[in-house]
This record gives sequence, C-alpha cells and structure tokens, in this order.
Amino acid sequence: MTISKQKINKFYNMNKTFVLLILAGLSVFSFKPENEPKRQLDPAIEVKITDLLSKMTLDEKMGQLNQYTSHWEMTGPAPKGTSEQQLLEKIKSGLVGSMLNVTGADATRKTQKLAVENSRLKIPMIFGYDVIHGYQTMFPIPLAEASSWEPELARKSARVAAIETAASGIQWTFAPMVDIARDARWGRFMESSGEDPYLGSQFAAARVRGFQGDDLSASNTIAACVKHFAAYGFIEAGREYNTVDISESTLRNVVLPPFKAAADAGALTFMNAFNEIGGTPSTANTHLLRDILKGEWNFDGFVVSDWNSIGELLIHGVAADKKEAAELAIKAGSDMDMEGNCYVPNLKTLVEEGTVDVKVLDDAVRRVLRVKFLLGLFDDPYKYSDENKEKTLILTKENLQAAREAAKRSIVLLKNENQLLPLKKDGQKIVLIGELAADKDVPLGSWRAKAITGSAVSLLEGMKSAVAKPANLTYEKGPVYVSCKSLFTVQLDFNTTDRTGIDEAVAAAKKADVVVLTLGENCFQTGEGRSQTDIKLKGLQQELLEAVCAVNKNVVVVLMNGRPLDISWMANNVSSIVEAWHLGSEAGNAIADVLFGDYNPAGKLPASFPRSVGQVPIYYNHKNTGRPSDGEGNVFWSHYTDSPNDALFPFGYGLSYTTFAYSDLKISSETIAKGEKLEVSVTVKNTGKVAGEEVVQLYIRDLVGSISRPVKELKGFEKIALKSGESKLVRFTLGENDLAFWGLDHKFKAEPGDFKLWVGTNSVEGLETSFKLK
Ligand code: NOJ
Repeated sequence: MTISKQKINKFYNMNKTFVLLILAGLSVFSFKPENEPKRQLDPAIEVKITDLLSKMTLDEKMGQLNQYTSHWEMTGPAPKGTSEQQLLEKIKSGLVGSMLNVTGADATRKTQKLAVENSRLKIPMIFGYDVIHGYQTMFPIPLAEASSWEPELARKSARVAAIETAASGIQWTFAPMVDIARDARWGRFMESSGEDPYLGSQFAAARVRGFQGDDLSASNTIAACVKHFAAYGFIEAGREYNTVDISESTLRNVVLPPFKAAADAGALTFMNAFNEIGGTPSTANTHLLRDILKGEWNFDGFVVSDWNSIGELLIHGVAADKKEAAELAIKAGSDMDMEGNCYVPNLKTLVEEGTVDVKVLDDAVRRVLRVKFLLGLFDDPYKYSDENKEKTLILTKENLQAAREAAKRSIVLLKNENQLLPLKKDGQKIVLIGELAADKDVPLGSWRAKAITGSAVSLLEGMKSAVAKPANLTYEKGPVYVSCKSLFTVQLDFNTTDRTGIDEAVAAAKKADVVVLTLGENCFQTGEGRSQTDIKLKGLQQELLEAVCAVNKNVVVVLMNGRPLDISWMANNVSSIVEAWHLGSEAGNAIADVLFGDYNPAGKLPASFPRSVGQVPIYYNHKNTGRPSDGEGNVFWSHYTDSPNDALFPFGYGLSYTTFAYSDLKISSETIAKGEKLEVSVTVKNTGKVAGEEVVQLYIRDLVGSISRPVKELKGFEKIALKSGESKLVRFTLGENDLAFWGLDHKFKAEPGDFKLWVGTNSVEGLETSFKLK
C-alpha cells in the first residue's frame, strides 16, 4: 500500500486542524501521558496510518499484531499446529504482520513478496532476529562488553551489528537485553550488563543508539527491542522462567532505570518478560505496560510478547483459554503476539462481541504500522534485502578489527602477583593448557545469530601469532570437560571420570617457565535455559588447575565464561587471573594482546564475583539492614557463619599493568540547595612504568531517607588514559536527579539530608567526602 506524497501533503494542508485533532486524540489514548514524548510524532505518518486503518478489516488489523517464526530456525519451542504451507497462506492473506528467524537477503525478499504482492493492502512485514552481540562478526557477549565501562564501544558494536543485520534483510533486533542481573546461577547473566542500574542504563541507551543510528529510515539502521520488560533477572533461585516477587521500590529504583534510559534513547520496541511479578505475568501487566511504559514514559513504539508468552498466560494460571489470554494481553498493552497463536483469531471475536474496544486494537495496530513507516518499509519493502550488500558488508576486515578492539577492551585483569604478566614474546618457555585454548567455537558465545561455527580466533592461534618464535609456545589440551555442546542439549554432560590428558598437561607445566591455563564455561553452558545450581568450574577443571599449580608457581589462568564464577581457590593459589569472558570472533587475538602487553587491560567487573554460590544474589548496592556488622564479632548481626559477606572480587574491580594514585578529592560546596549542582574533582596519577587506562568511579550514599537507601550507588564514571607519570584532573557534576529515588510518595525526588561520596578505583576502595542537600 503506497499513498503518494502529494496526496498526503494536499490532505495535510487542507486538514491541518483535523490532523492536530487526530494527534490530540492519540495522546489522549496513550493512557496517562505525563512527560513530553521522546520522539515527536510525524503528522504525515500519523495521517497515513489513520488512512490505512480506515481501510483495514478486523482480520487485517489482527494480522498486523501476529508474529510467527519461520520453520527454518528455532529460538524457542518448535511451533505447533502451523505447517509451512499454512504459514505461507496466512502471509498471503495479510494475517502475518511480522516474522522472526527469516534471515538472508533472498529469504527475506521472497517472504516479503508474499505479503506485499498478495495481501489486499500490501502492508510490508517486519522481520525480527536475535542479534545480541553481532550478526556474523561476533563481538564480546554483552556482560563482557559492559566490563569495558565504555558505552561508546557498545554503541559502535551495535552499529556494526546493525549494518550486517540490515544487509541480510532484517530490520529489527531483539536487543538490547537490559535486565539487571544479580544471580550468577541464571544462564542469561551473559546477556546483561551486570548488576548496576546506572552502568546498565548507559549501556542500554548506547546500544539503542547503535542499532537505530541517526536515521531510522536508512537501510543500514534497524529497530531495537528492549527486553525483557520487566524484572526477569529477579527470578527466584536463578531458575530460568521462575517466579518474581519484588517491591515497587525495587522495580522503580533498580529494575526500570535501564529500560527508561533505552526508551529515552528512542527505542522503537519493547519485549515482555516471561515471568510474573507478584502474581501478574509481565505480558498481562497493565501497570508495567500501560501505566509506566506507554503512560508515564510516553512510549510510542510497540510491545512484542516473548515467545508464546501470551499463550503461557494459560500455564501461569491467569487465563482459562487462548481467547482470555488474548484479551488480558491486548488490554494490558502487549501489541504483538510472538508465536502464541492467541491474537489470531481471537482478537476479531473479542472486538465483535464488545469485550475489547476497537480503539485498543487500533492503538496496537497504529504502533506497529508506525514502526514500519519509520523504518521506511512502506517506501520500499525490499530495501533491506540486498544481495550485494550482504556479500560486501558482512564479516569485513573492518568489522573484525572493531571486534578485536571491543574484545581487548572488555578483558578484566583480576590478579597479577609479582607482575607475572605481561608475558615475554621471547626468552620465556610458555605452555598453553586447556581444551578451551584451542577452541574456535566457544569464544563466539551463546546467542550468536549467524556466527559461522568454529570461526573464532582461538587463544592458541592468537598466541602463536604473537610469540617471536614458534618454539616459545607449546600446547597441551588436558582433559575434555564437557560433551554434548549444543544449544538444544537439555542437560550438559560434564566429564568427571576420563582423566586422559592431565598427566601430559602436568608434565608440560613442569618444564615451562610459565603456564597459561584456560578454564571456564562452554558457551552453551550460558544463555537462555542454562541456569545452574553451582557456579564452580565444572568437570575436571579444578583437578587440572590444582595439579598444574602443584608443579609450577607461575600460572596465569585465562577464564572464558558467561557469568560470575566461584573461583575462590584459584584466587588464593594462582599468580595471575585474566577474565576473558566469551569475546567473539577475535577472542584469541584480543587475549594475546593483553597477555603480551600490547594492550594494557583496563576492564572493570560489571558484577560482583561471589566467594561461593551460597552468597548469591550478591551485589554491591545492597541495603544496610538493621544489623550490619559492628566489627566486634558479635553473633547477632547479618552474616554467614561460614563465609564473609563481601564479594571475592567486588563490582567495579579490575587491575592494570600500571598503578594509579587518587588524591585531592574536592567538592564545590559542603551544602547544596535543590536545583544546584555539586561539582566534584579528583586527581588521578599513573604511578607505574607503563601507560594505562583507568575507570574513575563515583559513588554516593544517601544516609537517611524516607525509605532505606543502598550503602553505595554508582553515579558517575569516566575512563581516562594516562602515560607513565602523568596526572589528570577528573571532574563530575551531580544534580538533583542523581540523588533522586522512587519513594513512599510514588515520586522520583531527592530528599534533603546528608550524603557520603566516594571517588575511586572500584566499589570498595576510594577517597571519601560528604555533603548535604538542603
Ligand atoms: C525467547 C527469549 O526470551 C527472547 O529473548 C528472544 O528474543 C525470543 N525467544 C526470540 O528468539
């Protein structure tokens, strides 16, 4: 369906008042608008939508809200009841507004043709896909990238991912995932930016900007989908899809800030979470969707359900059948049904019998059409499906270079006793040990879109290209630790009996000057459906580690993993630990850059590393409780009898090959009035011998509030580069907003009183001062 520009302009000029009325009507219908909309609605687009809506039958409207997966690829349970042939017929009759898992210029073009050339109104479909950390060029998993503390880096990665995705005919990614993660048992920790709402908000906004670029209608920008709305990271016991029961305060102060930041950055779509909150599944949650997202935040895009999350309202036990599920979801504000088969055919009946107001349906359809218009799909439904671009823009040298840059900047140095690192490229006999070291697939991580299996640069390859002579480096595989490596394997099979390879590894370690030992997780040990009750090294890895440490004191562990692990023994017994996560296509080169000192690591942990699984959920910004430690060893305080409370490695922690000294923490005033700013400055000096980068972190504590406040909260950070001996003055500005929280009066505001303030190198160490808000 195309309406000529002339016709629209004529219509618009003749009917300006009418158009303004339509727009006024829209805002009335967008439920409790309180703020200014982020994106001004384009009157010309709104008129086109109104025109189109007036021509659509109920079936066609319902169709726009219906999304199916292709039969070629699954990212959820296989669809029941729709054969491929039936699917094609539904597309032709305008009953499918969107598909997921259709990839490639050819497939998207052919599928789009079915809709555009056969359906009555020729409305183009929108194709969605899970592009979480790259399309084919793989970037570090999101948790790793958050360790860079460089939102700009994440924006750039998302930009590259968008260019590759768009070149293959897809206009919509189901990312960024912005859930706050506090429980390392949860497999989806790897998709998050960690435990902190402030850091998470910066990354959420940056990723939206990267995917969506400056011009939504360009053919290399794609719509972002902010997920999972909301509180998925708070599932009980870290068990996938489990129940959530959190307070409004936790929702507003901890869970929602990254979602809000993403909405403010202009995100076009949101996705429901699978979980319930206090008895109401997110998909049927009017408070989340209507009151907050579409009301308070004036979100003008659309909300897609998660995979069959509308159908799962039956299983949650809040809907008796699919018709009731459809009613609950559409009324709550879920606009599109992903693979739930609930909206088609029930929405039509629900409207015809008067259970659902047609205005509710029209609002949802308008939102979907708006996104399609904004992406330019009505101007050219095929513009994304370009075989030539697909051949030339994907997996290019430049993209791989960007992936290497992102990867090395995401590495966190956790320990480096006696400066064992960096290694020498010559004059040192290095043995590299471990199955993961030669693995070319694991570094690609979970949620890997179109990554080519086995295409990552392994650590072995990376180190081989770095050393001066091949003889300087030998490799021993050690024992296999996990078999059945696939996304669809229900229970992974960890090897605890076959010790083949341990003796050889130990013998090689004995002869080496230094051992680099890779340990961690297979990539399919993390991601959706990958919760664990234990976060220690699996299989025979701990045994291998202890055996190697018994014969060589110079051990560098390189960790490859997708969640915080219990590495307590390792932290006490090896010289150096490099947290390398799952770093993507260029992993091996990036790790070698760090190991040999070509890049001085500067990453900081975006999540606390617990001492044991018993401490989780663990996070630095916890409350004080009524019985914190009095430091005198009394029994009756909030503690464990078998473990300290604090993390093994705290939030914000990470070392460098150089050292930094903080001095001269200054604030502009000891008292500020509401509306005034507090200027904070600190001097940071590189006191070591090599150049390096440091993430300077600012934390506050609101000492007395109408509700209890966290013992520390990150409110600013800056990554700076310093040459050896160089000093820099780093400045921060805190405003009232930075001190505000959602309180008992259901408002965000700063309360007068005393605040502590720290600036330092992580969430535990820092210079301290205090100020008062009048
Ligand atoms: C289920 C996941 O929860 C969601 O994140 C993903 O986008 C959809 N499946 C589609 O694959």
